[in-house]
Amino acid sequence: MLDWENLERTCMNCTNCGLCQTRHSVVFGVGPRNADVMFIGEGPGEQEDLKGEPFVGPAGRLLDDMLSIIDLSRENGYIANIVKCRPPRNRDPLETEQEACIGYLRNQVALIRPKIIVCLGRISAQKLIDPSFRITRQHGQWVERNGIWMSATFHPSALLRDVSKRPEAFDDLMSLRAKIRETGARV
Ligand code: URA
Repeated sequence: MLDWENLERTCMNCTNCGLCQTRHSVVFGVGPRNADVMFIGEGPGEQEDLKGEPFVGPAGRLLDDMLSIIDLSRENGYIANIVKCRPPRNRDPLETEQEACIGYLRNQVALIRPKIIVCLGRISAQKLIDPSFRITRQHGQWVERNGIWMSATFHPSALLRDVSKRPEAFDDLMSLRAKIRETGARV
């Protein structure tokens, strides 16, 4: 396991997969390094690639709105992605790209030691919770792994495309708020 300084330096220079050839920035992750809650998306989009920060484009604005419903803001949690470099044209990250990158996220989780991880969308849930995770059926369900409570909700981009999913995402936020209270997570 690397410390923060070495981990960040290694990520910034990473050439483990082909995404390094088209990226503008490595999007390492942002937030308090002692956060009790982590939010994990799939990979940077265009704005994130340009700015070097996760969830700063349209999906990020919706994420901010979602968090505000339960009186959270992005400063209350650590935000990262399964892959740290943008897949061209925002395609899903390939399994090989996810595998090349996931060690960095696991290292971040080991350093942060959060109480709660919320996966944003199918790709993140399938990588972190269960390879056969069905987001439409299993969103909002909680599992405990190695002392960390994990669940998934819809990706903000999916909620931008399909507003009919928003009531279910709202329920997931209520469930997150209850889990924060139950675990005594600091937010
Ligand atoms: N979508 C993601 O999954 N992550 C980001 O950082 C931005 C959009």
